[in-house]
Amino acid sequence: MNLNFLMVQKNKYMLRRNRRLRNNESIRSLVRETILHPNDFIVPLFIVEGSNIKEEIPSMPNYFRMSLDNIEKEVKELQRLNLKSVLLFVKVLDNLKDNAGKEALNPNGLMQRAIKTVKNVAPEIIIMTDVALDPYSIYGHDGIIENGQIANDSTANFLAEMSISHAQAGADFVAPSDMMDGRIQTIRQALEQNNFINTGILAYSAKYASAHYGPFRDALDSAPVDLMDIPKDKKTYQMDYHNRIEAIRETVMDVKEGADIVMVKPGISYLDIVREVKNAVDVPVAVYQVSGEYAMIKAASERGWLDHDAIMMEQTTSIKRAGADMIASYFAKDIVKLIS
Ligand code: PBG
Repeated sequence: MNLNFLMVQKNKYMLRRNRRLRNNESIRSLVRETILHPNDFIVPLFIVEGSNIKEEIPSMPNYFRMSLDNIEKEVKELQRLNLKSVLLFVKVLDNLKDNAGKEALNPNGLMQRAIKTVKNVAPEIIIMTDVALDPYSIYGHDGIIENGQIANDSTANFLAEMSISHAQAGADFVAPSDMMDGRIQTIRQALEQNNFINTGILAYSAKYASAHYGPFRDALDSAPVDLMDIPKDKKTYQMDYHNRIEAIRETVMDVKEGADIVMVKPGISYLDIVREVKNAVDVPVAVYQVSGEYAMIKAASERGWLDHDAIMMEQTTSIKRAGADMIASYFAKDIVKLIS
């Protein structure tokens, strides 16, 4: 046998041609690794007092604050689209805001009524509720202010009471978004103590102090205000975006403290964190594709600079590819309509 001849053959012809699997849409779809599905999505809903209200949020084109009657219609539409979970946020009237968030515990408050409304029209929809002080705070902070500081432990205790109130109204999951230390444990103990053993905790575990939340704060009128001794940002509780390992510490602690699902937030700028967290924990990982991500895509595509649907699909799929088991997204309806 002529070994020399074999050597020549080996060098002369390519053994692998990766483009074969990209040759047409049929083969590409056969080998596709990540596919978005309606089951992947959590739909954020912004709720306001009143009736027949559906007002567009200026920095979030085609996204609305709705009164409860319109929320009913919206939830029915979500059902038709096969979307199965919602994350509720309320815009609190100014005269009901204070430092300690008293209104958040009102059994007949807007959040509590919203939970009952959604349960009533669509019992099989998973109701998740934002557990945080900021929409209720005159200062726009996620913590109670005591002696010129964002007080950790009294805030955590307050969030536990708020969680009980949501569970009583019928919430399936409470979603603490505040980043106080120890709050998952405090909330979990309170739920167990009050016999809400089936109420889940979706913990905003690695939530960064991000400039991407601006449109959301417009939506709820919840931006931090100017104060003498407290910075006008959330950097003493939300994470520093320069850090990676800290995200693992936060998520691992939340799992130990009793979180059923952990969340990384925002999405597209934090995909490295999503992958690391996915590899580090053994509970499902959620990602919040936040208001600023939504606004950027809307703004650029309104100018004709980016293709709206293409960029929406690419960014959202990338979040799932990075390791998200579920995605809270303002694009949920658009995506489901596009893929169905
Ligand atoms: C409130 C909360 C915020 C978001 C979710 N829950 C704002 C913040 O922390 O200031 C942001 C969501 C978004 O931007 O879409 N604690």
